[in-house]
Amino acid sequence: MVASTSVKLNTGAEMPTVSLGTWKSKPGQVEHAVAHALKVGYKGIDTAAAYKNEAEVGKGIKDSGVPRESIFLTTKLDNPDQKNPEKALFDSLKALDTPYLDLWLMHWPAPMFDGSTPDKSIDWLDTWKEMERLYKAYPDKLKAIGVSNFSVKFLERLLAVATVTPAVNQIELHPSCTQQDVVEFCRSKGIVITSYSPLGSDNSPLLTNPTVTKLAEKYNVAPANILISLQANKPGVTVLPKSVTPARIEANQKIVDLTDAEVTELEAIDKEHHFRACHPSWTGWGSLGFPDCLDADKQ
Ligand code: A2P
Repeated sequence: MVASTSVKLNTGAEMPTVSLGTWKSKPGQVEHAVAHALKVGYKGIDTAAAYKNEAEVGKGIKDSGVPRESIFLTTKLDNPDQKNPEKALFDSLKALDTPYLDLWLMHWPAPMFDGSTPDKSIDWLDTWKEMERLYKAYPDKLKAIGVSNFSVKFLERLLAVATVTPAVNQIELHPSCTQQDVVEFCRSKGIVITSYSPLGSDNSPLLTNPTVTKLAEKYNVAPANILISLQANKPGVTVLPKSVTPARIEANQKIVDLTDAEVTELEAIDKEHHFRACHPSWTGWGSLGFPDCLDADKQ
């Protein structure tokens, strides 16, 4: 396979294959991480209102000296903001100190009052319709809209009413969470997949997995490069390695072309050792009328 450097969205825009992830990047670190990433060649930055780091991300972009139009910037609508997406959009633009977003995602199909109480007065499908309205009303501020943490069933519900097909579905994707059903469904609908936690997040066992380390030796790269390359080798997939460590930020850009057999071997790890780094307890509140968008058995 030949890894891509960018992937075309259904809007016609190109999204860089590798962007810097900032989930769990701590205050005081993320500004430097963003500035460093852009200075050493990253073309994309991913953040979210929920990460509470948009202002620092915005400062990092300014510090880098890289022109805004050379950067693909993604942020996300937080669950409690589903009651007023328009305000949330303008708050994000202000916090990031940017005139526009390249991509704005519904973070979860989960309207909430706060971090732990579902708001059953709001239907996330109505939130999507409002995001569509904003996309059409503010083409100069919003270049693309999409979703995050959507299973096939949730995507089907969305596509049944959508007038704008999401450009992207951002999901957890690594060899212990391959979500092949979601990847294939999105590919069939022209929805680009973005892999978050491609390394398996903090203290990941994937970095010492024998299949991963064997390929790292073969290609003379670090295990992280194999895990990032795995996603970059898949058609229609982009990837968000997170790091606040300058040397790792720089090194994580190195992508190798894997063979089809190597991709299959890496994806098989899921059968031996499946895990999710991100499965908040509230996604399991099916009994409260709040279905689990991540778990096909609880939808
Ligand atoms: P740090 O940010 O301290 O550098 P993921 O992208 O899957 O969420 O993984 C992020 C985790 O992996 C963070 O703990 C990050 O640490 C660490 N990490 C990022 N790049 C590398 C790398 N090249 N080698 C080892 N660990 C890495």
